[in-house]
Order: sequence, then structure tokens, then C-alpha cells
Amino acid sequence: MTSDVNINSHDALLQLQSVQTQLQQKLVGHEALIERLLIALLTGGHILIEGAPGLAKTRTINQFAQLIDARFVRIQATPDLLPADLTGTDMYHQQSGEFRFIKGPLFNNIILMDEINRAPPKVQSALLEAMGEKQISSGGQTRLLESPFLVAATQNPIEHEGTYPLPEAQLDRFMFFVNVQMPDAQAEMKILNQVLSERNSAAVQLAQHAISNTQTIEQASKHVSAVHVSDAIKDYIVRIITATRGEGPAGEIAKHIAHPASPRGSIFLSVAAQAKAWLAGRDYISPEDIRQLAPDTLSGRIVLHYQARAQGMTQRDVIKSILDATPAL
Ligand SMILES: Nc1ncnc2c1ncn2[C@@H]1O[C@H](COP(=O)(O)OP(=O)(O)OP(=O)(O)O)[C@@H](O)[C@H]1O
Ligand SMILES: [Mg+2]
Repeated sequence: MTSDVNINSHDALLQLQSVQTQLQQKLVGHEALIERLLIALLTGGHILIEGAPGLAKTRTINQFAQLIDARFVRIQATPDLLPADLTGTDMYHQQSGEFRFIKGPLFNNIILMDEINRAPPKVQSALLEAMGEKQISSGGQTRLLESPFLVAATQNPIEHEGTYPLPEAQLDRFMFFVNVQMPDAQAEMKILNQVLSERNSAAVQLAQHAISNTQTIEQASKHVSAVHVSDAIKDYIVRIITATRGEGPAGEIAKHIAHPASPRGSIFLSVAAQAKAWLAGRDYISPEDIRQLAPDTLSGRIVLHYQARAQGMTQRDVIKSILDATPAL
């Protein structure tokens, strides 16, 4: 879809901020996930969501897609899924006697891939290739995917039987690794009240009216890439990333790390910070943006040594130690 409507930075910002607020009102305690979804959509990134069943992952992404009038599809990964089930395939067309390409579900704006680790490796790799290249090659032809294009994949941390864990190289393709936590008592009460009152209301208002659209997202993406990344911020990012490789004063912490963060770590961190700053109405990145985004951007990108894991250390703990030991300026 193209349009010559040229929405300015301010109007796009107001629209997307109200998308954010509206979602935050409906989804208890999901502020971080909602912000990460918006950032990823604005920057061409993708999200891996880890969390137990029933924490409103599907609901969050579905409502997000509705609010921005994006084409949304949910795919449940199963061991018998084939790459063509995602990409589409050439089908014989009787009348014309030719083969025609029938687009698969990847030709949508927002793809929710539930339980990605239940998909066989060939499907995972087709998906991850689409995420990276934003195009699909089949039968000697290359087809561009939609824009914006966001893959949100979910993974259940408690079930590993019969799964195919994503290889490190493929994890690296994600911008964010978001952990969705169980609600506390207060949040649980809010969820309960909300669901009960929704069930009780005459017209169940699950369908959301769009308050933005994909053209606004496209325009906003351009404004996001114009956000200034100062030398000081770049230096801060580089010091955090290279600390995972054992450099600098925080380098000592890298003794717990078997595989450090690749340059994708610093690229995703700076691009995500541009979007975070823009969404906050700023035209510059603050060190606090970096601090807040680093755990979700970097935790899935490093692999800990066996000994560290045996001591109960997590990737997030290690990133936090690096942040604590790395001065912003
Ligand atoms: N934090 C929350 N805020 C608002 N509603 C919530 C929240 N957590 C759970 N719910 C309620 O729980 C229901 C289940 O959510 P949903 O089906 O989206 O979960 P899910 O994380 O996708 O689960 P699964 O992993 O089984 O697919 C939602 O429809 C919603 O009513
Ligand atoms: Mg779900």
C-alpha cells in the first residue's frame, strides 16, 4: 500500500503514544513488552518472547496489530510444519496451465510464531532468513515481504521435551529477548476485575478500533532513524558490548561468558535506543535509554559458561553486572 499522506513527526508520535497508552491500560504489567513491540516495528527488529502460557502474549500482539491496522497472523509451530507452510508455494493453475505462487502467512505485517522451538530446524531457518532479508526466494524468484514486518516468536521456558532449541546464530537475529513474568497479587486482581467486567459488558469490546496505521509507522521509522546518536552514547554502547568480550574495567565479568555479543548487539542497541528516545518525544538518546534496553537486547546474545549456569547465574544477571561496572560517561 502506498499513500502520499505525509504525516509529520509530531502527529506520528502522538498517534503511536496513544497506541502505547491504550495497550498499557488493557494489558496489566506489560509496559516493557508493549514498548519493545513498538520499537521493533519502528526499526525492523523482531522479538523473542519467553513466558509461561496464559500471560496474555497473544492478546497483546493481537490488540497491538488491530490498533495500528496491521495485517496480523498467528502460526502455531508444530513438528510437521514445512517451510512452504510459511513462505507459500507454487501451485498448478488448471485454467492457465501454469504454476502460480500462492503467498504464505509470512506475507503479513505482524507474525506471531507461537512456540517457535517446536518448529523443525528447516522451518526455523526459513523464518529467520525472512526476518533478516525481508524477502523470500522460491522457484528462482525473489519476493519482497510486507513493510512494516515484525516477527514475534514465543518460547515456553518450562517445556523442553520434543523441542528444537534455536541455535545461537539464529537467536542473534532477534532484536529483543523479552521475559514475560507472572503478575503479582495486585496485578492479578486487576486482570481478574478487567476480564470479569469485559465478560459482563453487553458488547464484548475485544475488537479494537485502529487509531494508527502502517503508513504512519513507515513515516515514523524515518523520523526514528534521524534521532542523533552522539559519540558519547556510541562509546558507552561499545564499552558495554566489548565488556562481554573481556575488554575494559567491566571485562572481568566476561569470565562467566562462553560466547560474547556480536556487533549485532551494538547495532540493535543503538537503533532500539533511537526509537525509545523518539517515542519519549526526545531527539537525542540518554544513557538511561541504553541501560534500560541493554538487558532485553543483549541477554539472548550471550552464552554463559557451564560453571556460571551451575551457580544459578542468568544472562540477565551478567548483563546487569556489566552495566553496573560500566560508567555511562
Ligand atoms: N497481564 C494481563 N493483562 C490483561 N489480561 C491478562 C493478563 N494476563 C492474562 N490476561 C488474561 O488472560 C487471557 C489469556 O491470554 P492469552 O491467550 O493472550 O495468553 P498467552 O500468553 O498467549 O497464552 P498461551 O501461551 O497459552 O498462548 C487473556 O485473554 C486475558 O484476558
Ligand atoms: Mg497465546
